[in-house]
Amino acid sequence: MTMRETIMRNATRFERRPALPGLATGVAILLASLLASPAARAADVEEGRAIAERWCASCHLVSREQETATDEVPTFHAIAARGDLSGETLTAFLADPHPVMPDMALTRDEIADLASYIDSLAD
Ligand code: HEC
Repeated sequence: MTMRETIMRNATRFERRPALPGLATGVAILLASLLASPAARAADVEEGRAIAERWCASCHLVSREQETATDEVPTFHAIAARGDLSGETLTAFLADPHPVMPDMALTRDEIADLASYIDSLAD
């Protein structure tokens, strides 16, 4: 194969690469994120659970299914069962975390979701 043929082949291969699926995916992601983040929204327990599993489960037991966490750290069920920590107090605590906890810079929506998730664990 001559150099010219090789170049032409590569050029064709390049042109055939479909540009559309990438674009369509981008638009879909953009739409999804626009739909998912309206300015004000109700706290979402499922979202709170996902945040808890991602950010809190290394230390806390955040659900009944989770089997291991750090000793001496209250489980989310224990926290939920406490009368003094729910709704507003929980929201205030999470906005300004306990010194032994890393400051996770949670957004107000994430805090509201977490607080309602933890509240949902109270039996
Ligand atoms: C690095 C470990 C660590 C991580 C990560 C962590 N915590 Fe904690 N958390 C602790 C410890 C330790 C305590 C107990 C503090 C104490 O009793 O003095 C605690 C206590 C709490 C309490 C009870 C506060 C109180 O007044 O007794 C709440 C509520 C809480 N954590 C929520 C969360 C949430 C929500 C997350 C995830 C966003 C999280 N924690 C992530 C270590 C952690």
